[in-house]
Amino acid sequence: MNQTTIPPLPYNPKALPRETARHYIPATAQDIQAMLGSLGLSQLDELLQHIPASVRMAEPLALPEELSYEALYRHVVEQSRKNCVPDMAFLGDGLPHYKVPDLVPFVAGLRELMTAYTPYQPERSQGTLMTQWLYQCCLAMLTGFEAMNASQYDRATSLVEALYTAARLSRQGHTHFLLLGSLWPQDLEVVRTLLEGTRLTYDVVPIDPARGTVPLAALEQQATVKADTLAGIAFPQVGSLGCLEDVDGLTDLAHRLGVRAIVVTDPMLLATGGLKAPGTFGQEGEGADILVGEAQHLAIPPHYGGPGLGVFGMRYNAAHQQDMRQAPGRFVGDAQDEAGRPAKVMVLSTREQHIRRHKATSNICTNQGFVATLTAAAILARGEQGMQEACARGRTNATTAARALLRLPGVRLAFPDTPFWNAFVLALPCSSAAMIETARQRGIHLGVDVSSRLPGSTGNHLLLSFSDLQEPAHLERLTEVFVEMLGAPDPAGAPAHATTVTLPEVPTAYLRREPVGLPSWDGEQLRTFFTSLSEQNISPDRTCYPLGSCTMKYNPYINEVAASLSGFAQLHPDAPLADAQGTLEVLYNLQEYFKAITGLPAVTTQPVAGAQGELVGLKMFQAYHRSRGETQRDVVLIPHSAHGTNPATATMAGFETVQRGAETLSGVVEIHAGSNGQIDLDHLRQLLTRYRGRIAGIMITNPNTSGVFETRFQEIAALMHAEGGLVYMDGANMNAIAGWVDLGALGVDAVHNNNHKTWTIPHGGGGPGDAIVAVSARLAPFLPGVQVVRTAHGYALEHPSQSIGSVHRHFGNMGHKIRAYTYLRALGRQGVRRMSAVAVLAARYLHQRLKGHFPTLPRETPDSPRMHEFIITLPEATFEKLEAAGISRTRAIGPFGKLFLDFGYHAPTVSFPEAQGLMIEPTESYTKAELDRFADAIIMMLQLVNEQPTILHTVPHFTPVDRIDDVSANKRVVVSARLTTLPPVLPNRIAPDQLAQMPLEAIAEAIRTASAAKRQRPG
Ligand SMILES: Cc1ncc(COP(=O)(O)O)c(C=O)c1O
Repeated sequence: MNQTTIPPLPYNPKALPRETARHYIPATAQDIQAMLGSLGLSQLDELLQHIPASVRMAEPLALPEELSYEALYRHVVEQSRKNCVPDMAFLGDGLPHYKVPDLVPFVAGLRELMTAYTPYQPERSQGTLMTQWLYQCCLAMLTGFEAMNASQYDRATSLVEALYTAARLSRQGHTHFLLLGSLWPQDLEVVRTLLEGTRLTYDVVPIDPARGTVPLAALEQQATVKADTLAGIAFPQVGSLGCLEDVDGLTDLAHRLGVRAIVVTDPMLLATGGLKAPGTFGQEGEGADILVGEAQHLAIPPHYGGPGLGVFGMRYNAAHQQDMRQAPGRFVGDAQDEAGRPAKVMVLSTREQHIRRHKATSNICTNQGFVATLTAAAILARGEQGMQEACARGRTNATTAARALLRLPGVRLAFPDTPFWNAFVLALPCSSAAMIETARQRGIHLGVDVSSRLPGSTGNHLLLSFSDLQEPAHLERLTEVFVEMLGAPDPAGAPAHATTVTLPEVPTAYLRREPVGLPSWDGEQLRTFFTSLSEQNISPDRTCYPLGSCTMKYNPYINEVAASLSGFAQLHPDAPLADAQGTLEVLYNLQEYFKAITGLPAVTTQPVAGAQGELVGLKMFQAYHRSRGETQRDVVLIPHSAHGTNPATATMAGFETVQRGAETLSGVVEIHAGSNGQIDLDHLRQLLTRYRGRIAGIMITNPNTSGVFETRFQEIAALMHAEGGLVYMDGANMNAIAGWVDLGALGVDAVHNNNHKTWTIPHGGGGPGDAIVAVSARLAPFLPGVQVVRTAHGYALEHPSQSIGSVHRHFGNMGHKIRAYTYLRALGRQGVRRMSAVAVLAARYLHQRLKGHFPTLPRETPDSPRMHEFIITLPEATFEKLEAAGISRTRAIGPFGKLFLDFGYHAPTVSFPEAQGLMIEPTESYTKAELDRFADAIIMMLQLVNEQPTILHTVPHFTPVDRIDDVSANKRVVVSARLTTLPPVLPNRIAPDQLAQMPLEAIAEAIRTASAAKRQRPG
């Protein structure tokens, strides 16, 4: 390619030292030697000597050679241009494509919002919390639902979560559902995949092929038959054939039957002038009970299907005070700090997996948070008028196109009597697949062949979708292309004027009654607002962000550029494969790279987060056992130290725990840790005997959450396999071992890689994450979704022979795969090993520096070599001083974590997996000088507390707000409000940038002064 055709980068990489460092590792060769030297080592590979040779990976990894920065940029641009994205498309089909307001890329570029972690430290995360609160408010205004969740993976998994929620809400313990056949087939497939093997059951009620909707009478009949087990009815507002369902009738029917009305909707269509708000469905206007939808298109382009944004809403009003406590995922609520300042905090987290483990309402952890942030920005940028216009344009474009096309010979509406909004199905006088291909050759993505959704179709049904992207010229061209293919209107048979074609009218009862009332602000005001919100957060760009288990490493800017290249970002997942070759090649290569990185023979790129990877793993375990007739395997072994998602996932997969007294009969069984911090093999053997023939598998985090490599993993896997069970490795900590350990040799059957940890995808203040799951040969036939295969004619898609089905409505978080791919091309075959070795080196070095000051946890294992992270606690003498100052041992670690905020850092992971632990993971992204300052700061924190324990009563001091009172926030939960003004943004009292420039002693002094001032404050 001619180099001049490459657009300039939107930033100067030379001004970003981490960006241009080889493998994004800024430590110099001298830094590395000095750190190794302080550990008594001379080479990086000595750090991993304790890993058994039998599981070490043979060099080199089968990855391409690393690319220089310039070559990398050129490569991704060229790769994106292998896709063909025409400027005219009428796809949609559950993932519409709208114009993106300018504010969205601006907010996406605010690194403190985009790269921050989940807001578990609310005083340092007010920026993220506020954007997610705004999302909840905007969605509440659009939908009429009071409690909108921020947020689920995509519409399909939201629907699954809605079914679980409705089952939990059923007073009679009902677990059966009726799903309308007009729901998106992609979503129904995900429901099928994820409910298989669980106690939830469902029937799909078929559509009437003449109307494109489900007849109420047929539904009622089926509901009556199932009345004694029915928990809910799930229906779309606009079905997969573009037809509008009778939402009032459906809601009333559900309520007459005493079950939950679950509506699947598109928030874009709920703008003023659009469709009826689900909070007002029903003759009496009481509304549906649970709301599900997709919101990706409100904020970002299709990205070949993701990152999506699953919309999830619950009622929270006088009649439904407690329902929300059964909802999955995160809500942001109103709060105050200790001084009464307004603030935001995550509420209701006692339902979440990190607290309730196998009893959690869901396994969801990393979600789609940043897409929610961007959706808030997009809605605020459009304002009332902009949302109304976007919705109206889709409608007008659809009716204009319909009127023009229906004049053509043989073209008719497939459902002439059923109202539609912005999408309709045409019955053509020819094959729709042939039309789609002809149009493709003329540079148009015409629509989606929906013939398979219609019994009796002869392959001639075409769904066309419209939005605000089509200009009048596009509609004219569309008609011209139809004319070229089908011939001109018959002057004798067709009406003289297009406008005289009659379209089914949308009944007033289907339309919104009241305006949404979204406020409007100008672009500059919003840019200033979001910028000041970003300043309330911090980013790993700036400094060490030491959250153990979360791998908060540097996220290269170039990944963002790659993902937003129009060839990748604008590509719709329904684009013909011939036009998606660039993206498919990336997916194919990722499959190959992750085979090389893990040492396992097959890979799926569909899962969108670690927890979903776990679920995929366990669903495959079930399918494998089922295929061997071993359906009795109902036990999963999980160590006590495992992340909460592991037990929560097992429950969601169908391994529900049944106990009799202290004895676990089935479900999740805990394995103890031995004195070396690793799995206790004696206990494992006992469990294997106790549950013989019933064990589906084991889930092991390796390296484990204490940062220790499970040196006897191979032996554990062999024991498990001998019992007929399978081995899941939680790969959240791959940053420690990637390129060094052969997971195939370890005996792993399935492993997830959290791409938002190891593979540099930004955390986005809680998501979107991403995952790639690799499996052993025995599980390969069961992989979810599709595999990309290379054929003589290019890249194609293939379904694994015994696939469990899809776990996402499309291909997963494809935008994130581009980021991971870009990173891997920068690392190349040497970079992966170097990355993990330097990550281990940084952790060992930091641990070494802190060891003399802080005890290591678990206490019995101070000398077990740590990998990429380690856990420390306060010395006994400090705990005693704190207790004397009224801070009990159990309440000391949280406030000590807040001291990190005062020094300009994010806190480490506190109280997990050890109640009194601080889990620190420095990653490979920082220089020795940065690690040294960090170590000095932690030592100074200890000195401060020893000298004046009461400081922990007043921390943090320099964040925009003081300690937040989350207890009150959880007592009186407020999760939405009508937006009228932009909420005030409080400034940092000392900004992290300023703290980074201050000598540590000066920070300590400022803390002493601020603490004294606070203590003198009345009350
Ligand atoms: C050890 C471990 N396992 C699993 C997970 C879950 O991954 P995700 O948050 O991507 O769903 C995490 C995430 O924080 C983790 O640290």
